[in-house]
Amino acid sequence: MQHQSWRPDQYNTHASFVSSLGSSVVDLLQPQRGERILDLGCGDGTLAAKIESAGAKVVGVDSSPEMVKAARARGIEAYVMSGDALTFNGEFDAVFSNAALHWMKNYPAVIRGVDAALKPGGRFVGEFGADGNIQRLISGMEASFARNPDFGTFNNPWFFPSESAYAAALSSGGFAVDHIAVIPRPTPLTTGVREWLRIFADHVISGFTQEQTERFLAEVEDDVRAYLYTPEGGWVADYVRLRFAARKS
Ligand code: BEZ
Repeated sequence: MQHQSWRPDQYNTHASFVSSLGSSVVDLLQPQRGERILDLGCGDGTLAAKIESAGAKVVGVDSSPEMVKAARARGIEAYVMSGDALTFNGEFDAVFSNAALHWMKNYPAVIRGVDAALKPGGRFVGEFGADGNIQRLISGMEASFARNPDFGTFNNPWFFPSESAYAAALSSGGFAVDHIAVIPRPTPLTTGVREWLRIFADHVISGFTQEQTERFLAEVEDDVRAYLYTPEGGWVADYVRLRFAARKS
């Protein structure tokens, strides 16, 4: 599989909905003045800054050096670190994560690292893609690969668990689950499905020629149009979220 890379400027233009919609996860976190909070997959630091505005101190980690640079430019203490190889030890009151855990397929290692990073009783609060998330988009990508042998093999890089599977993973990782819910959330893509694919399926197209990229984008757009586009509503992606709040027990 090709490497997924991130362009903070493009992300800001075409995917600012990610942090806008993440505000309600910050509400679930209820950050308190003086708390030390780890933002796992902090991206460009938009939500970390919101958490800090409540008086907490945030440390952000992200596997993308470009995103860490953007978070630091916002004044957030941030480090390049993979979510399945966290190196913190008992120093955080809470770990927060928005729209990032679905990129971390080795979820037992992520949960172990979060557990190690938390103080006793610390909170793990997050939201990410649930089972069924972007199913139409994935089917469109798979269909395009099936039609075009020169594209190679489609490797789905995402982890979208069911509510029961993730609750079980949290419990066996030593967490008490206070809240977990699946939230269908059709999400408008104001700049269209092609721009979404360019940003979020960058790992899929990064090895393509220009011509292959255009063929892929056109085919996926055609494939999903009947499900994700209306003249009145424009493009709306089939997002389904898994939102949870757990405590280290
Ligand atoms: C999501 O936020 O659900 C998501 C974003 C990019 C790729 C896959 C899922």
